[in-house]
Amino acid sequence: MSTNTTSAYSDFHLQFIAGEWQTGKDDSTNTNTNPYNGDTLVEIQQATKDQLNEAYDAATQAQEAWAKQTPAERAAVLYKVVNILDQRQEEIVDWLIKESGSTRIKAMVEFGATRAITLEAATFPNRVHGEIRPSNTPGKENFIYREPIGVVAVISPWNFPLHLTQRSIAPALALGNAVVLKPASDTPVTGGLLLAKVFEEAGLPKGLLNVVVGSGSEIGDAIVEHKASSFVSFTGSTSVGKHIGELANGGEHIKQVALELGGNSPFVVLKDADIDQAVKAAVFGKFLHQGQICMAINRIIVENEVYDEFVERFLSHVKTLQVGDPNDQGTAIGPIINEKQVQSLRDKIDEAQKEGAKMLLSGEINGQLVPPHVFTEVTREMDIAYNEIFGPLIGIIRAKNEEDALSIANDSMYGLSSAVFTADMQKGLRFARGIRAGMTHINDIPVNDESNVAFGGEKNSGIGRFNGEWVLEEFTRTHWISMQNEPREYPF
Ligand code: TAP
Repeated sequence: MSTNTTSAYSDFHLQFIAGEWQTGKDDSTNTNTNPYNGDTLVEIQQATKDQLNEAYDAATQAQEAWAKQTPAERAAVLYKVVNILDQRQEEIVDWLIKESGSTRIKAMVEFGATRAITLEAATFPNRVHGEIRPSNTPGKENFIYREPIGVVAVISPWNFPLHLTQRSIAPALALGNAVVLKPASDTPVTGGLLLAKVFEEAGLPKGLLNVVVGSGSEIGDAIVEHKASSFVSFTGSTSVGKHIGELANGGEHIKQVALELGGNSPFVVLKDADIDQAVKAAVFGKFLHQGQICMAINRIIVENEVYDEFVERFLSHVKTLQVGDPNDQGTAIGPIINEKQVQSLRDKIDEAQKEGAKMLLSGEINGQLVPPHVFTEVTREMDIAYNEIFGPLIGIIRAKNEEDALSIANDSMYGLSSAVFTADMQKGLRFARGIRAGMTHINDIPVNDESNVAFGGEKNSGIGRFNGEWVLEEFTRTHWISMQNEPREYPF
């Protein structure tokens, strides 16, 4: 429960480098606006490459001592962060609404996920452990150590900025690493500066967390290529992710990368499903945060026998959704993050119609507010089905039978999340195991994230896993050390 008695954080026009709040030295400015009403929230002078170098130097210096702190000392900082998040819940939710266009519901979901991963990360200092393995060499003992990586580069997106940033930085710090973070230009506060304030208040030693605000096209490559980091954690689009993968493992570098990229989640309704429940799930799993979620439903695939019934009930439910001010309790669909994304949705609406999809629901686009658009008689190769939408548009595909539904579901270059509705759990499990994706939910939405369960995708949706022991492995390095306790016989 939020009981905020402290004064609100301020000075978000500054960068957080080497533990100091400093003015960016680049000539360019990031004008951070509210996507609902266009108000300017803060203007940030962007960082130069010299400031980025300063951040990496500070991180490198601070990391060694941090890794030597006891697990209890590192855990204590993370627990303190959880307390501060709780105290400042209202302030944080307010920033999520005004900076990222989150509805109140989405902001609360995001706050909860952020808190959960911080709490999970607080257990990591005491959970990380090595192993002793037997040896086939007489007199040898094998020890497997898990050590911090060193300095981790984190680049995060604007859609769940607080959570998707914290999902990398909390485990990284808990495990004895230092971080250089670049938040998305649309959300520099909730994607970075706000978290820097929280960690600073929690007593994190200076230099361990650096937030460098600058445009991806200007300083993105330099962040990835910097020799001080050997690990890059990127969450964002598949195109930028591929570029980062190439940069990190080309030229002079071989770096480990975690890439959490785009998705194209299928939501499959089999003929024996509870249609009412499937409709409720489809509406929430599609329209939460205006559909701007990598796991959001991107295709609804319905078995022929129940197609018409599903469409009718889905439409009547979608028509009840309130579009408007994200700060209003009743709003389900708030604004799209920026004008460029709105244009991409306009293009998708035009393309769907050109390709012959039937538009059963539409509405006027007003500024950055895009009302729900529903298309039927969509086929798997249409743009609206084959490519990621990232907005409140949806196509419904008719499947001949269960086998056809599975074939359509798998016909994608992405493999992040997915969902299937059926009354028969064994059938659901069989179907789920047939899907090529990192995550599948039976009788639920594809949008799920639990801080203790493996999160991630395959194919063009990326590599690596977050949460629980999976991220614990991701943010540490493995070191085999053997001890030869008696002289070994060599062949020559
Ligand atoms: P991107 O344009 O890829 O931006 C993501 C981050 O990368 C931003 O911080 C961006 O900075 C930075 N960036 C851009 N160009 C860069 C470069 N050359 N080098 C290094 N960094 C660079 O994606 P977006 O528009 O923020 O997010 C939408 C996409 O992300 C969707 O495809 C969505 O599916 C995906 N996404 C995936 C997930 C998961 S968990 N798989 C979660 C959220 C979003 P600037 O903002 O300064 O350009």
